[in-house]
Amino acid sequence: MSVLSVCEWLQNLPWASGIKHSTWQFPVIESVHSLALGVMLWPAALLDLRLLGVTMRRRPVSQVAEQFLPWVWTGFIVMISTGTMLFAAEAVKCYNSPFFRTKVVLLGVAGLNALIFHKTVFQSLDTWDKATPTPWRARLAGASSLAVWIGVVAMGRALAYA
Ligand code: HEM
Repeated sequence: MSVLSVCEWLQNLPWASGIKHSTWQFPVIESVHSLALGVMLWPAALLDLRLLGVTMRRRPVSQVAEQFLPWVWTGFIVMISTGTMLFAAEAVKCYNSPFFRTKVVLLGVAGLNALIFHKTVFQSLDTWDKATPTPWRARLAGASSLAVWIGVVAMGRALAYA
């Protein structure tokens, strides 16, 4: 069974084709997808900029993370749920799209970047919580995260207009 045939099967499921062919379902889900982006992107960017030492330099990183991460996670969960529904509705289009493929790869890179950050330099946060500049690994994680999220958003937009 090829990936393409799984995509065909998925988008022909009654609920998935219902989303695609309804006048309001797809636009409403896509709007929620975009609004959730606003919920997660700005807090994520502000945290990345704190890691880079650009914003909120006098506030400990732990405090900034505590304030912003719940927003990032809330938005992210909504993005994944609504994104999965949009994908199901047009799985073959997504499968054939280089934008969607790039977006999935970038989402994986974002996850990996966050995981590496948490498993390495974040473990010793106590020693550099108030430091400016932050350690180079923290700055690297912040810069990579910013770049990758900009890429994910650009690919999402490109897919919607493709
Ligand atoms: C946090 C992660 C994500 C971000 C930042 C993101 C970002 C975006 C953006 C900016 C758009 C364009 C919306 C518009 O122009 O109205 C979009 C569309 C889309 N997203 Fe996501 N997305 C994410 C996760 C996902 C996931 C996990 C999937 C699928 C499993 C997905 C599937 C889609 C699809 C299919 C569209 C295009 C809808 C169309 O053809 O108009 N997204 N995304």
